Amino acid sequence: MSSSTPVQSSIETPIIGRLLVIGLGLIGGSLALIARQRNLAVEVIGASRSQQTLKAAMTLGVVDRVVNNLPDALQSLQENDVVVIGVPTLTVPAILKTICEYLPKGVTFTDAASVKGSVVSAVHDIYGRIPAEFVPGHPIAGSEKSGVAAARADLYEGHQVILTPLKETGPEHLARVRKLWGGAGALVSDMPVAEHDEVLAATSHLPHLLAYTLVDTLASMEENREIFRYAAGGFRDFTRIAASDPLMWHDITLANSDAVLSVLDELGENLSALRHAIINNDSDHLLGVYTRARVARNHFQKMLEKKAYLESMNEKAINYRVQPGGVLKGEVRVPGDKSISHRAIIIGSIAEGVTNISGFLEGEDSLATVQAFRDMGVVIEGPNRGRVVVHGVGLHGLKAPPGPLYLGNSGTSMRLLTGLLAGQQFDSILTGDESLSRRPMLRVADPLRLMGAKIATAEGGTPPLSISGNQSLKAIDYKLPVASAQVKSCVMLAGLYAQGETSITEPAPTRDHTERMLIGFSYPVVANSGVIRIDSGAPLLASAIDVPADISSAAFFMVAASIARDSDILLKHVGINPTRIGVINILRLMGANIELLNERSMAGEPVADIRVRSAALHGINIPEDQVPLAIDEFPVIFIAAACARGSTVLTGAEELRVKESDRIQAMAEGLLALGITAQVQADGMVIEGGTLSGGEVESHGDHRIAMAFTIAGLRSKMPVVVRNCSNVATSFPGFVDLANTLGLTITEEKCDD
Ligand code: S3P
Repeated sequence: MSSSTPVQSSIETPIIGRLLVIGLGLIGGSLALIARQRNLAVEVIGASRSQQTLKAAMTLGVVDRVVNNLPDALQSLQENDVVVIGVPTLTVPAILKTICEYLPKGVTFTDAASVKGSVVSAVHDIYGRIPAEFVPGHPIAGSEKSGVAAARADLYEGHQVILTPLKETGPEHLARVRKLWGGAGALVSDMPVAEHDEVLAATSHLPHLLAYTLVDTLASMEENREIFRYAAGGFRDFTRIAASDPLMWHDITLANSDAVLSVLDELGENLSALRHAIINNDSDHLLGVYTRARVARNHFQKMLEKKAYLESMNEKAINYRVQPGGVLKGEVRVPGDKSISHRAIIIGSIAEGVTNISGFLEGEDSLATVQAFRDMGVVIEGPNRGRVVVHGVGLHGLKAPPGPLYLGNSGTSMRLLTGLLAGQQFDSILTGDESLSRRPMLRVADPLRLMGAKIATAEGGTPPLSISGNQSLKAIDYKLPVASAQVKSCVMLAGLYAQGETSITEPAPTRDHTERMLIGFSYPVVANSGVIRIDSGAPLLASAIDVPADISSAAFFMVAASIARDSDILLKHVGINPTRIGVINILRLMGANIELLNERSMAGEPVADIRVRSAALHGINIPEDQVPLAIDEFPVIFIAAACARGSTVLTGAEELRVKESDRIQAMAEGLLALGITAQVQADGMVIEGGTLSGGEVESHGDHRIAMAFTIAGLRSKMPVVVRNCSNVATSFPGFVDLANTLGLTITEEKCDD
């Protein structure tokens, strides 16, 4: 679809001349009624073969006047007038013949038929060409009701009207029809004719045909009375549309027969497979179909309502108000590790066998990864209280997704998936939200191209990414120009499909969850002195994964308990992978009181309970070797620095500028707003510890900035308001409740602007 027009309400001066509606059923009648009520046309004229309809149209106030002689009515029209054909699809050619003969040149005409290919060819046959005045259209707003009596002035409000203009269509005629439907409250968009007919065959024509057939089948069974007496919920939901106008659907079915037959055949094959599965007691098949369908249905619903996976993400404008002060006490387990959750889905999906995951992070980012693999045909059950079951399809079992894979805010999903998808047999497109669409992707595209992958990016090397399948990848020896676990993991995942042994050299250690998890899935990976080697083609064997709590989320409370007076908390079951503990090392250097208790290993990842008590912090020069090990924790480390005695200096952290926001700039602005001196450098910041005054700060839609400034409230004199916090759900669903349990006082407020 290429464009859409916003809804308009009442209009003072008519936007077109006269409107002649031929056929006053639900569709034509409703348009006439709205045009009259909203003053869209100078005059609304109705034409119909049925005298009864014409009479009703006048009585109901649907039209200003009716005509009995169509040729005369057509002949009287002039430029700026519009004719709308609202008759059943197979009757359209007869009307077109009259229009061809009598409608003066320059008068716009459009139709409302559900099939566009047949109408366009009828116009071509009758005129011997496509006239500029003709604008094919289709309002998607019908219902099972029909006839002029069903006409409603609000029928098109917020509904789609698809126009399928042709190259011959005159722009002024297109604009006129667009304005007319826009004035009726519809969302108008354009689509090519063939695409329209295919999409509608699947989404509208097939469901009608099935509903009719189901009711007809049940009605002709001997025990039909009994069946209908007990037929409640499912039957009623599935068959509402079988009460639609039979002639209209007869016409549509035959007019769009090619596209209808093709989806019908596909459905037929799937029904036979289902039948077969029932005979063979094949639970896997049944569960696969039902799980995928349920998830897809929920997904469509959310897409249609433009909702996020999590309810909290729908409140686009949530601010946090944090009351000053507070003492932190208690034991909590923060949500699961984001990096490990992504990898569990990715690696579980391409493994052989079933991967049982516990402790999975039910945040927007990891849910985006789940959805992507579901789109590629993987059956994934859950998440249900952190439990997810992934039915692996093997290294070569992914299927082409039906459309672009939408990855929301998640850079990890996009970068890791790019590597994996570069090695598939099918093409794919990766898209993301506004923030992700600005993030650099050449860092993954470059090494993959060296391996032989075909990847197109938008200008400036940003998403969307178009990945061409069916390329034969070859192994490379790659020196990472930046210390990035995402790039390393991307190349490793491509390495699973490349000929030969891929090696990756890191400039500094970065998180090694991919290496650990592949080894946990019995895949040979060798990591030695900063070089990781991986060969292709070995099988990946499914394994259970217990995702530890995310140290990046725990970090907020490590700083909180350190800076708040009299605090003593226990953070349970936190991942303390040596490549992630930069935040503990840095805070300890600043004087924090952090103890690791009960250290143990869970499915290849070290975990511990972390006790944190209040401490007097002092500023430090942060060692550069800690930067990659604490890369996501700097926003909250800056808050620790603001509460510390003396200055804290960070260098070698230019990567912070290309995270979900420019975290150097965004944090410095917020700190300044709260009365702290923060000096921005190209690769870091200098922060003078001081007194936080309180006030309003902007999170820039970045989850970690939002949470960091929330923690700052503990030490500020006045309340802190953090703006635009809905994105906290990307990594830390339930943050506010958990923080309040520990002793913060945060309220959520809807932002008015
Ligand atoms: C991640 C790696 C890091 C980190 C991100 C998660 C991962 O990014 O900032 O939140 O899961 O591999 P870079 O690889 O870009 O440093």
